[in-house]
Order: sequence, then structure tokens, then C-alpha cells
Amino acid sequence: MSARYDKLTVGSSVEWYTPPEIFQALGLRFDLDVCAPPGGLPWIPAERSFSRADDGLTQPWQGLVWMNPPYGRGIDLWMRKLADHGSGIALVHARTDTQWWREATAAATAICFIAGRVRFVRGATMSNAGPGSPTPSVLLAYGQTCALALLQANLGPTLLIPGGLKPHGYNHPRPR
Ligand SMILES: C[S@@+](CC[C@H](N)C(=O)[O-])C[C@H]1O[C@@H](n2cnc3c(N)ncnc32)[C@H](O)[C@@H]1O
Repeated sequence: MSARYDKLTVGSSVEWYTPPEIFQALGLRFDLDVCAPPGGLPWIPAERSFSRADDGLTQPWQGLVWMNPPYGRGIDLWMRKLADHGSGIALVHARTDTQWWREATAAATAICFIAGRVRFVRGATMSNAGPGSPTPSVLLAYGQTCALALLQANLGPTLLIPGGLKPHGYNHPRPR
């Protein structure tokens, strides 16, 4: 893991925000941003949000969920909760070598491999000037509405996962 990736994932540096163009491309209005800075972010089209003080992981989730989780330890818990919820989109690094990735993609309805590198907005400066993310990013969709949103967003190569189109509440298998 590179030193830059470490900086992106540890301590207070979880404050890297999704740039507005991702939401413009998706064209969705979300009911809930499950992990956000206090008060949410003005460009994120979500009715409400949970912050660290609320602990979005322990709250009930409702409706269409947006999730750019705090990267690093615990990401498996966020991904599992979204898969179980069954309706929403996650923006995560393409860590295809991890167990959380295998589990998350087993339940997803679509995956968009974002072309190029996402230029995240740094919380410290509220700017996305400078180089993009040091790692590639993906959008994982859960539910049919979100799968279709990924397909039409044209953000990069997108795969529909027919096996992921499971009824709401389906208990996806956990890898051993
Ligand atoms: C990668 S940022 C994403 C922010 C925003 N949702 C976005 O898409 O740009 C992750 C956010 O989750 C917040 N966070 C960390 N732990 C959390 C928790 N347990 N519950 C809710 N939010 C949390 C962080 O403070 C940070 O603002």
C-alpha cells in the first residue's frame, strides 16, 4: 500500500468528499447519505444525512441510500449493511483483492468502473484541485433503480450483475 493511499484512509483523512459531477451523472435524488460530515454537503442530493456523531452504521436506513464510506477498517460493515438494505449506491476504491469486495459484489446489481481517477473534494480545503485519487474507484449499485442509474451515467465501463438482481431482503451468501 502506498504512503498516499495510507494518508487517504487513516485518521481524520476520511474527509474526502464525492465531487458534484458524480451526482450530476447519476441523476438520482437519494433519501439518505449514511455517512457525511455534520449537516451533510450542499451538493449531495440527499434528503438527510447521518454524521459520525449519529453513527450511521447503527441507525435504521430508509429509502435510496448514498454511501461513500469512511475507508479503511470497518468498510466491510458498511458494505454489508448496504447490501442487506438493498437499495442504494456505494462509491469505493476498487479493492478487488479484498474479502469485502467479494462479498459486496456478490450482492450488487451493477458495477461501474469509473474512468480515470476521481478528484475527491478535500474536507480541509473544500477543493478538488490537484491530482485525482491514487487508486481507481467504482460505484456499486444495489437494487434495480440504482443499476439503471449506473448504466445511464456513462462514468465508465458498467456491468449489470443478473445474479445480483435479488428480491429485497435476500440474504446473500457470505464467503467462507
Ligand atoms: C468519505 S467521506 C464521504 C462524505 C460524503 N457522504 C460524500 O459522499 O462525499 C465519509 C464521511 O463519513 C463520516 N463518518 C465517519 N464515521 C461515521 C459514522 N460512524 N457514521 C456516519 N458518518 C461517519 C466522516 O466524518 C466523513 O464525513
